[in-house]
Amino acid sequence: QASYLPKLKFKPGRLPAKQSQPRASAFKVAVLGAAGGIGQPLGLLIKMSPLVSHLNLYDIANVKGVAADLSHCNTPSQVIGFTGASELANCLRGVDVVVIPAGVPRKPGMTREDLFNINASIVKTLVEAVANNCPDAFIHIVSNPVNSTVPIAAEVLKQKGVYDPKKLFGVTTLDVVRANTFVSRKKNLRLVDVDFPVIGGHSGITILPLLSKIKPFVVFTDEEVSELTLKVQNGGTEVVEAKAGAGSATLSMAYAAARFVESSLRALDGDSDVYECAFVQSDLTDLPFFASRVKLGRNGIEAFMSADLLNLTNYEAKALEALKPELKASIEKGMAFAQK
Ligand code: NAD
Ligand code: LMR
Repeated sequence: QASYLPKLKFKPGRLPAKQSQPRASAFKVAVLGAAGGIGQPLGLLIKMSPLVSHLNLYDIANVKGVAADLSHCNTPSQVIGFTGASELANCLRGVDVVVIPAGVPRKPGMTREDLFNINASIVKTLVEAVANNCPDAFIHIVSNPVNSTVPIAAEVLKQKGVYDPKKLFGVTTLDVVRANTFVSRKKNLRLVDVDFPVIGGHSGITILPLLSKIKPFVVFTDEEVSELTLKVQNGGTEVVEAKAGAGSATLSMAYAAARFVESSLRALDGDSDVYECAFVQSDLTDLPFFASRVKLGRNGIEAFMSADLLNLTNYEAKALEALKPELKASIEKGMAFAQK
């Protein structure tokens, strides 16, 4: 296993070949928004997974070409493209994991909140279709603002009578990926050794890396804590500005979303050692949704790693209290939108 892809089963240089034996367990994955900046590289990474038998790609435009292109890779899964609302139900039937990166990305000067007006309706409509066609699937919400789109999805699923909070995830893996990368670089650590949770939400100060929980043990100065925390919180904006109007993070996001898909598939496959951070319904704080490290199993979330929130440093405890009003407002905005 490549050291820079912790827990992933993609093995660069040893891709599943034509002659690979089919696995006993094979899962169906759907990507909604599959022709976009995230959707295309995400489709490619999922196509490389030996755990996937069917990869269904849905978009409102341009997805048939993406599906034809990916279908020529000699890995086991079958790829089919679905275009437009009339093909959405067929895309979703029988699916085990649905990933939703559909919607508009940020441009310089915008916050993720500025995407709410467009993306809230897109997520609502797509999750309604998920509820109608694959209510037991794990649902991975990538579309921003995640702090609001996950509560929207939860309300829609409740209205449809199929809400299982253990199976609805806001994808915050990119925050973890960034945090691990930045800290490893700063402290000259091997990436494979570094692990710590990023909690809260997925926007600005609501993103809180818990450097005090890092493995292996590392000492940070106060300046380093503040610099690294800000760098993780501003990671998305750094990419948006560098792309200068051409969108936000797509490649690193596809990598992060593929990691979360692979972790979910391993959990569904019976692996009992799968832990990821995600923005989920939670009792860990007084907020109804909160990102934390969770243990994944066949039925979704099996346990919350509540110990991560114990013995916080003063810096972390203050930052946690400071993020709550903003996160609460975003959650409530999402719930109100879906309830109206
Ligand atoms: P993009 O514009 O390149 O792609 C979005 C795709 O969604 C397009 O192909 C578009 O046709 C499709 N789409 C739009 N409406 C749709 C609908 N109703 N049904 C199906 N597909 C639809 O954008 P992108 O760069 O791929 O980003 C997508 C979203 O992901 C944005 O909201 C962005 O902010 C978010 N994002 C989240 C994270 C995270 O960490 N959670 C990271 C990066 C980006
Ligand atoms: C990110 O963190 O890169 C994404 O949420 C996209 C964005 O708008 O920053």
